[in-house]
Amino acid sequence: MRNLLAVGLLVAATAAQAQDDGLYRGLGGETGIKRIVNTMFDIVLADERIKETFDGFDIEQTKSRLALQFCELSGGPCKFKGVGKNRDMKSAHEDLKLTDKDFNALTEDLQVAMERNDVPTSVSNRLVALLAPMHRDIVTAAGGVPAAKPDQGKFIATGGVSMVEGSGGGGIVPWALITGYGTRDSWGASAFATRVSTQDYRLMSYGVAAGICDRIELSLARQEFEGRLAPLDQLRIKQDIVGAKVRVAGDAVYEQDSWMPQIAVGLQYKRNKGVDGLGALGVANVRQLGAKSEHGTDFYIAATKILFEQSLLLNATLRSTRANQMGLMGFGGDKESSRKLMPELSAGYLLTRKLVLGAEYRSKPHNLGVDNEKAYKDIFLAWLPNRHFSLTAAYADLGTITVFNAKTQRGAYLSAQVAF
Ligand code: HEM
Repeated sequence: MRNLLAVGLLVAATAAQAQDDGLYRGLGGETGIKRIVNTMFDIVLADERIKETFDGFDIEQTKSRLALQFCELSGGPCKFKGVGKNRDMKSAHEDLKLTDKDFNALTEDLQVAMERNDVPTSVSNRLVALLAPMHRDIVTAAGGVPAAKPDQGKFIATGGVSMVEGSGGGGIVPWALITGYGTRDSWGASAFATRVSTQDYRLMSYGVAAGICDRIELSLARQEFEGRLAPLDQLRIKQDIVGAKVRVAGDAVYEQDSWMPQIAVGLQYKRNKGVDGLGALGVANVRQLGAKSEHGTDFYIAATKILFEQSLLLNATLRSTRANQMGLMGFGGDKESSRKLMPELSAGYLLTRKLVLGAEYRSKPHNLGVDNEKAYKDIFLAWLPNRHFSLTAAYADLGTITVFNAKTQRGAYLSAQVAF
């Protein structure tokens, strides 16, 4: 019996060991890690953003210590004795006065090095998950005072894309991420144009947004909604949206060793500009369709977490709203007029550093008798080839829109964003 137990324990220990060094083996063991670190330093020493930081240091020694550290971190058989005065990351880096931008540039160079050495994204993200929390010790110079020039310093995709109401997020859900690529020491901005075409309607949306110190986001958007099928084929509705968002806690990227997501609160003030094309029916504004008001404000709280270990981006948003079809059909209605708390969800899988596949769900209130309003849903693929441009394609389901065209409205969603 004792022998059986011993064998069992040995098998369990071996299995755990095999599981623990999965990342080490994924990186190609000692040889693979050395190759990755060599490639990484080729990139770092040519990288205008950070190369000067390494002037005068013993690069070969830094490389071999880094390789030792990656080997131990990834579950390999090495012993990394630490570095710096106190054998810790903080004392090894504090004199360098590094910023978020430096940290992200070096990590990105490592990601590119892993790509060049054919390490799959699901594996390389696991190493990033282990390194990201070191940001706490390594970055000692982030000030929170915006520099005059945008620094383009955030990781690709961490400003989100632009949602149809202009806020940084997915396509239909605002996220806690702040738009653009400005870090805590800078600012960034983005502009977007989006088109959703269903069988009977078309929605165009375009706007601009700015992110300040990766903390505050301000946005402006215009929505133009058109009917394409009788009796609403002449229908035209316009809406302007002013948005503001503040990150109040957490960091979606760096806090990989904690469950805590990045949390932001935001608002979207919307003004419906009236209804055109329904003169024959005597309708010129949304109140004649049963809405209580032509303007309204949505308030929301959003929580976003990037789980590098699992290559996942998760977001949950709770919105307080009385908007009908985002406000395109006004605010409040003949059926229901008070505010409702509506959940919205997004999930994305990081196929590569520049490609995210995901799905979204946005519940909405049902306030109007003439519109059996239902949830919006989509499946999206976002391509972010660089920090200046992104393209998101989706298959969207907008539910039914008005009782006149009672068919479920489904179709293509296409959105382009430029950012700096
Ligand atoms: C997760 C990120 C990082 C890790 C794991 C890391 C790891 C290391 C290690 C293990 C060393 C020790 C080398 C030695 O003692 O010789 C080191 C040194 C160094 N690191 Fe980092 N580092 C990181 C981020 C950065 C960043 C963002 C920069 C600058 C852009 C940087 C610049 C340096 C420099 C210049 C040295 C040489 C310091 C010296 O030899 O005293 N490191 N780093």
